[in-house]
Amino acid sequence: MEISLAEIAQQVANCQKCPLYKSTTKSVPGEGNPKAEVMFIGEAPGFNEDQQGRPFVGQAGKLLDELLSSIKVARSDVFIANVVKHRPPENREPLPAEIEACREYLDRQIEIIQPKIIVTLGRFSLEKFIPGVKISQVHGLARFVEINGRKIIILPMFHPAAALRGAEVMNMLRQDFLKIPQFLNNQEKVPLENSTTKEENTKDNGSQLTLI
Ligand code: URA
Repeated sequence: MEISLAEIAQQVANCQKCPLYKSTTKSVPGEGNPKAEVMFIGEAPGFNEDQQGRPFVGQAGKLLDELLSSIKVARSDVFIANVVKHRPPENREPLPAEIEACREYLDRQIEIIQPKIIVTLGRFSLEKFIPGVKISQVHGLARFVEINGRKIIILPMFHPAAALRGAEVMNMLRQDFLKIPQFLNNQEKVPLENSTTKEENTKDNGSQLTLI
């Protein structure tokens, strides 16, 4: 049976597969265009998201909105979701069991939306699609990942909250964002850095950044 995004949102609202639902105000299933070509996937709702039941509506969300404007893409054209759909207490990092409990919802959202590009925001989202790599080494480098028999471009980026904490990450995030339109408009002709990481490209680049 076909299941819709609204049905997934309803299931998320009723979900008790992990204890997070007990301490939250609203569930945050994700929102946007069901036919989006670009899907942004963050970590987990924060305070404002929990209050409103909507993803990326706090400070990090304002930055995301600004970045979308910088590439002339409307927020309503994309789909924005998180790896975890209920807010972890005190904004702590999501636990592996919480990510696992939420996995089916995100997987089904991706299956329905069938985006061309998934932009991962932060390391929890990156880990889902490209496990075992460092965001500082792969941010801005797109690669194809096969998901349910379909090749989707994964474009790793820093989390906007990390960008708000430092100018260096902010600059990198802004630069990485500018790559999105190339993939949308000219997908076939853009070279994908398939298995190349920045570490392999620039072995002397040892600087590690604090990441969300
Ligand atoms: N940070 C996230 O990862 N997701 C949100 O929805 C908001 C902040």
